[in-house]
Amino acid sequence: MFNGKGRGRTLLSLALVSVGLVAQDAEAQFKKQCMSCHTVGAGAKVGPDLKGLAERRTKDWATGFMMAPGSYLDRGDATATELLKAANGVKMPDLGITAGEAEAIWKLVDDATKAGKVIGSAGIARPVTPADIANGRLLFEGRKHFAKGAPACLSCHSASSAGFAGGGSLGPDLTAVSGKMGKGLASAIETPAFPTMQNVFAKAPLTAEEAFQVAAFLGSVSKEPPAKKDIMLPIVGLIGLVGGLQISRIVARRRFKGVRSQLKPKA
Ligand code: HEC
Ligand code: HEC
Repeated sequence: MFNGKGRGRTLLSLALVSVGLVAQDAEAQFKKQCMSCHTVGAGAKVGPDLKGLAERRTKDWATGFMMAPGSYLDRGDATATELLKAANGVKMPDLGITAGEAEAIWKLVDDATKAGKVIGSAGIARPVTPADIANGRLLFEGRKHFAKGAPACLSCHSASSAGFAGGGSLGPDLTAVSGKMGKGLASAIETPAFPTMQNVFAKAPLTAEEAFQVAAFLGSVSKEPPAKKDIMLPIVGLIGLVGGLQISRIVARRRFKGVRSQLKPKA
């Protein structure tokens, strides 16, 4: 039989220790998991600016929503439905936030609001130029390297005419993502919240400028007519024949990177 009192004390001290740790980690967690879509005081991104959250929501509603936004939307919660509309139908993902973490983030947001502290960057606000789009394409395709060594987007994504024979398929096609995420896209790229990308990009983040240019490129492809990839297939076949090799797509992409950029049709 366990000793009820002793166990209670242990649980209490464990709880206190973890509250302390969580409070300390709340800002780091916010930066890692929320800042791609939210700021506190630097404006709306994909999701609303969380400044003044306590003035418009109850703590129960807000922490509950942080933990399981999907369930609020599924059951037609009026506030969540209104927010979803304002966000162009982009749903906040379920991020597996615990009650303790939600509470700590609530406090972080409230403290920052009261102190006038800004969390997050306003991003780059200048208008997109043709040079931004061209540079963004080079970065997306890996023909120009990201300053901190992040992998080319093309290794996991396709986007309309990007790449010689399309892109990787680990991630979704990004042709229409600009229309979906709008002006929040650059910050979603700068600090991605998508689990697969987070693993890669946490160690090699993009600069605000790089994210702005890639977003500018994706904005331009969302207006392109669908790419005609079928013309490229015979050329790929020919190269394979000449080489006399059965090569995987990834090897082919590496090996013929140089050839590819020469053959690449003008954008
Ligand atoms: C991929 C983008 C994305 C990420 C990442 C994200 N959110 Fe959201 N968030 C949204 C969107 C969009 C909404 C508006 C509701 C909707 O459309 O689902 C929202 C709404 C909210 C709201 C309600 C805001 C209000 O004004 O009532 C809170 C609170 C919130 N998010 C907290 C968080 C926290 C905390 C995190 C990190 C643990 C987080 N979000 C991560 C996109 C995101
Ligand atoms: C290692 C593979 C990988 C790389 C490299 C990568 N992504 Fe992703 N990306 C993914 C995956 C997988 C998803 C789907 C969400 C998830 O599972 O994380 C995704 C999701 C996205 C989304 C959200 C799409 C949507 O419809 O919600 C955007 C935007 C995005 N990536 C942009 C980029 C950009 C821009 C780059 C280059 C800077 C890039 N990604 C590089 C794997 C990658």
